[in-house]
Amino acid sequence: MNSPVWWRDAAIYQVYPRSFRDSNGDGEGDLQGVIAGLPYLADLGVDAIWLSPFYKSPNKDGGYDVSDPRDVDPRFGTLADAKDLIAAAHAHGIKFITDIVPNHFSADHRWFQEALAAPKGSIARSRFHFYDGRGENGEMPPNNWISIFRGPAWTRTPDGQWYLHLFDSSQPDLNWDNPDVAADFEETLRFWLDLGVDGFRIDVAHGSVKEDILIDHRDPERLVDALRLDFLEISEAERAGLLGDIPFFDREGVHDIYRSWRRILNEYSGDRMAVAEAFVYPSSRAARYVRQDELNQVFNFNFMMLGWDAAAMKASIEGTLAELVDVKAPATWVLNNHDTPRVVTRIGSARKARALAMLTHSLPGGIYIYQGEELGLPSADLPDAARQDPAFIRSGGTDKGRDECRVPLPWSSTLANYGYGAGKPWLPQPSDWAQYAMDVEVKVPSSSWTLYKKSLALRHSHPALGGEGVPTWIDAPLGVMHFTREPGLEVVVNATDERVTVAVSGTSILLESADGSSLQDGRLAIAANTTIWLQH
Ligand code: NOJ
Repeated sequence: MNSPVWWRDAAIYQVYPRSFRDSNGDGEGDLQGVIAGLPYLADLGVDAIWLSPFYKSPNKDGGYDVSDPRDVDPRFGTLADAKDLIAAAHAHGIKFITDIVPNHFSADHRWFQEALAAPKGSIARSRFHFYDGRGENGEMPPNNWISIFRGPAWTRTPDGQWYLHLFDSSQPDLNWDNPDVAADFEETLRFWLDLGVDGFRIDVAHGSVKEDILIDHRDPERLVDALRLDFLEISEAERAGLLGDIPFFDREGVHDIYRSWRRILNEYSGDRMAVAEAFVYPSSRAARYVRQDELNQVFNFNFMMLGWDAAAMKASIEGTLAELVDVKAPATWVLNNHDTPRVVTRIGSARKARALAMLTHSLPGGIYIYQGEELGLPSADLPDAARQDPAFIRSGGTDKGRDECRVPLPWSSTLANYGYGAGKPWLPQPSDWAQYAMDVEVKVPSSSWTLYKKSLALRHSHPALGGEGVPTWIDAPLGVMHFTREPGLEVVVNATDERVTVAVSGTSILLESADGSSLQDGRLAIAANTTIWLQH
């Protein structure tokens, strides 16, 4: 790492706490489980962890349905456990980032319960989006929007009004025009900052502000396809058409929110940060979330959605770095998360996933690692009966949902439930996961874990890794990427299925994503689907 500001080139590990490690045997991961896993994460060499929500929640959407953002859900532990976890992470030299969900609350939140009990037109209702329906008796929703989890984006209340929920009906969207909402989120930010968190991951950062709420979309079903991070079979051009200008995402008003949040972050010492989950189109608009007076990082979803295609990846890397120059923000590189297929499954092989990881670890800026990625875990096959994602439930099973990437981690090849915990895991673990268990991979020199550990260590020790700037590209054969970063790093990525020979200036191999390559007299014969770092 070369940046004086920790988050600008940090390796940030995403913990999905429900599936990380279960300390009390109830089948669900918890905060004490995360504490127990910290030595492992420190050994791996991550700089920070980001935890998906562990707040009070009825857990209809994996905790992204928050009923009290300033308390911990009993299924994860207590507020005291959260304080212990923050302290324990810091004791290991690991920063702590927590999730914040400003687009919606849970329907169980006190405010929504008050709104349901309050009359039409009341202040309590104005904290959400309540409208009368269309049709003679208001029996039709106020517009034709579809929930991102399918089904209408509106639910009718007993008194006949409808409320908006872009996600599950248990997640009513907040109305940011009501100043109570901004005030409450300020309180939440300060609450966690005072407890010592180093940053926030902002859920649906492009959501929150809505305009023209009563206007229909011309193709709401297809729009929902375009909005899904796990739906990859939609062309850029079609996405552009569908997402070009929708009244509920990427509105100008969201930037006012983030300017005010940045002012709060800046009041605290220690380079506190925030990273935006902003899925916007065209992707160049993501840079607007990380202007100097707004948030610090934005997930690079454009790159994440590409296949293993050298030309497309190179264009995206160049585009990403160019887009961020003016705003002076660092890039981020993300391969998967709790909403997407695991990278091994998405690009089709563990070998390609390792080469892809090494490519991103060599680029300027920060990297995000989703728990289990370092083990090379594929998405798991699950019986429908086990699925819990509201996307599966609301679609009547046509959308398989995101449970496949949320299966509890394998820690041990010999213990029950792969050492995740004593109780039956909330999602079933595949029978062939012993091969991926941490206790196995940490001992195997050719494992994904060993590769990640080495690459993260080199990101700390090598002067060209991490940091910022742009790579210097070198002409390369079709399907190959070749660049240098100064001082002293040369990177070759062979994204083809054939062995390729490339002229290099590097004199020794620092790290390779798989074996089978050779370097002699300035010529690197690089094996298929491999990335190599050379010292040059
Ligand atoms: C994005 C989160 O990553 C996802 O898991 C969640 O379902 C939606 N936002 C709604 O909060």
